[in-house]
Amino acid sequence: MRGIWFLTTLSFGLVAAEDGLNAWLRYARLPDNIIRQAEIPSNIVSLNSTETSPVYVAGLELQKGINGALGKTLDVTHKSNKRSSIVVGTVDAFTAAGGKTNAPELEEDGFWLDTKGKTVQILGQNERGALYGAFEYLSMLAQGNFTKVAYATNPSASIRWVNQWDNMDGTIERGYAGLSIFFKNNTTIANTTRVAEYARLLASIRINGIVANNVNANPITLSDENMAGLGKIADAMRPWGVRLGLSLNFASPQTLGGLSTFDPLDKSVITWWNDQTAKLYKHIPDMAGYLVKANSEGQPGPLTYNRTLAEGANLFAKAIKPYGGIVMFRAFVYDYQNLNESNWKDDRANAAVDHFRHLDDEFDDNIVVQVKYGPIDFQAREPASPLFAHLRNTASAIELQVTQEYLGQQCHLAYLAPLWKTILDFDLRVDGEKSVIGEDVLSGKRFNKTLSGYAAVVNVGQNTTWLGTHLAMSNLYAYGRIAWDPTVDEVVILQDWTRLTYGLNRKVLDTITDMSMQSWEAYENYTGNLGVQTLTDITYNHYGPNPQSMDNNPWGQWTRADSDSIGMDRTVWNGTGFSGQYPSEVAAQFESIETTPDDLLLWFHHVPYTHILKSGKTVIQHFYDAHYDGAETAASFPKKWTSLKGLIDKQRFEEMLFRLEYQAGHAIVWRDSIVQFYNNVSGIPDAAGRVGHHPWRVEAEDMTLHGYRVTGVNPFQAASGFQIVQTTDNSTAASVQTKLDYPSGRYDLAVAYYDLYEGEAKYELFLNDRSLGSWVGDLEHKLGYTLTRGIDGHSATRVTFKDVRIRKGDVVRIETLPNGRETAPLDYIAVLPAGIVD
Ligand code: GCU
Repeated sequence: MRGIWFLTTLSFGLVAAEDGLNAWLRYARLPDNIIRQAEIPSNIVSLNSTETSPVYVAGLELQKGINGALGKTLDVTHKSNKRSSIVVGTVDAFTAAGGKTNAPELEEDGFWLDTKGKTVQILGQNERGALYGAFEYLSMLAQGNFTKVAYATNPSASIRWVNQWDNMDGTIERGYAGLSIFFKNNTTIANTTRVAEYARLLASIRINGIVANNVNANPITLSDENMAGLGKIADAMRPWGVRLGLSLNFASPQTLGGLSTFDPLDKSVITWWNDQTAKLYKHIPDMAGYLVKANSEGQPGPLTYNRTLAEGANLFAKAIKPYGGIVMFRAFVYDYQNLNESNWKDDRANAAVDHFRHLDDEFDDNIVVQVKYGPIDFQAREPASPLFAHLRNTASAIELQVTQEYLGQQCHLAYLAPLWKTILDFDLRVDGEKSVIGEDVLSGKRFNKTLSGYAAVVNVGQNTTWLGTHLAMSNLYAYGRIAWDPTVDEVVILQDWTRLTYGLNRKVLDTITDMSMQSWEAYENYTGNLGVQTLTDITYNHYGPNPQSMDNNPWGQWTRADSDSIGMDRTVWNGTGFSGQYPSEVAAQFESIETTPDDLLLWFHHVPYTHILKSGKTVIQHFYDAHYDGAETAASFPKKWTSLKGLIDKQRFEEMLFRLEYQAGHAIVWRDSIVQFYNNVSGIPDAAGRVGHHPWRVEAEDMTLHGYRVTGVNPFQAASGFQIVQTTDNSTAASVQTKLDYPSGRYDLAVAYYDLYEGEAKYELFLNDRSLGSWVGDLEHKLGYTLTRGIDGHSATRVTFKDVRIRKGDVVRIETLPNGRETAPLDYIAVLPAGIVD
């Protein structure tokens, strides 16, 4: 569909600073030589004059986009005319007005785009489809693509939702871009400007529903005042064809309604939910549905009353059915209190299928079971959830995560479409037949379902970049594109996004493609390999390295690492039996070490560190090599980005550069922590001699200290050499210094330190008595990751001073002023010759 690109290698010079608010809907003016090739009709006809209708909005959007990208001002009218026009409306409205079209029969939300004739036809099966068609046409124009096309496109699935995990107090669970645009102080925000802007973004990627409040739902969402506020939120989104849904707290009849029970079979409870639903539909007549997290991670649910999950879900399904709403019921149900690692057969990964398999005939037909892509929890790599193979009579949707909870929290670049594709392209071979998750299962085709689809946890916040940083937005864009068509290539998606976000410059396109396509693999490389999971701090903020936090607790994200071996034995013959949850062909593949792919080996098997992979390396050497490779790739990102200086506006260029430099430093923190940890546990040296050997570093504990003391850290591997220095109190100026014993030459000088929440220590670096620069420990204001109060793998970071001339015998000194909880903690300095990542 997407034709020839008219690319230019011209530099557009420094354009005005941009803050990211317009995301991929910037409609930046194209270069004149490209504009000259555009043949655009002279006016726009939008076949609905009601200002709140998607078709009306589509007319205005076309006007705005064409004006921005092509510099042409077109009138918008609401009646067909004889002039050559861009007509946008439903097929029905178009034919009723006497229009003739070759549009085929369309499905719900589908559209027809025909630019071949004198009049451009943008015709939707419904108003939403017409709006999607307008965005599609604008996307072509904004990319300088004036190919004549005539085609229809329909969604792969009817449910294309986003979930926000916004709390009623305005914070966002696993959100990294500031506070909520929906809620604050336990109520809704009256100004819905950002809500409408978000709905516009979502409409442009064909998302048709949003659940605005957290799955860990606060019953207060359903207060009378909040219902009215939610009505206003729905009003703001309606013109964009985005419907509002709500997360429910199962115990609300008791906690909010004052009943003595929340038993789903109790009459008073049923009445209570029916009444709430009726009230909600008064405020939100087109409410999309409910989302329910029950009996998981402390949330209440039907199991409390010995009722089944289906009985719990059906309660809501029946209440909402008369209004045409649906219930998204989450399959993320597990008991984190009773998992016991000393039992070899215990396995959280089994939970979803164990809970839902026998309920397949029990759910009402307006219930959709919402299944996380993998059996555990949004890890850097997981196999596809086997539950998709068991829900033959129950509608299902996949749950993806745009917010990078376990993938660097928007402080690390990770383009996620390739990760999602490993799941969506996976063939479950149900009954020996092709059952590809995206194409066959989620499309509803394989099990003959009309209701199915996609949900993604997005968590945009008030930050003008929406997600906290610019490049992370490719994930939101890709999510919408994939939910519409899971077979579309991830590079095609990425490149459309890049042109729309950064313009048509070839070098910009190639560089962003290159970095993004390497990013997930690099992240996996320097975090957790071979399917062992992300190896982050799973009991806390899920951000920095902390491999030992995975084990010896009931959360069930175990690695079972001991001094000889690692991995979860999930085989049927000797392990937890999880592999047997897949249909037979797939089960057989994962049951055997020989046929399990390396990248999932430790997910399915417990093997010695010396086990030889298909690649020919041992498991432990793979860990070492992957971590060094991954950190090296991350180190290349700032350099690649810097090559775009002048080709991207200053604000977005600099903000992104800051993050990429931070990432390069934190990738080294990750690398060192993980390789030190497994080196320590296994006692097996790195064949390349890198682990624990840092010829270019001077440890802070080996320097001359003034006002500093040497301490350990927790976890131990979060410090190079397992020790750091901290000031002796939190208010007195202090310093460390050392004489450098490296050959004279030019070096990058890196300082590894810890930047904590609650405290802004000051630092200044001197070479002899010349200041090379100063900085403040204030990343808590610059990065959106979950704040940490400790000296650990989350707070560990580096700053680098580039290209410093150093002579043998020069003295490096760091002068510091501690502040608050920040005792100006220092780990080491690295003196790096060109091209060396220490
Ligand atoms: C993860 C996440 C939680 C979230 C939960 C869920 O465990 O860390 O913050 O509530 O998933 O998806 O319900």
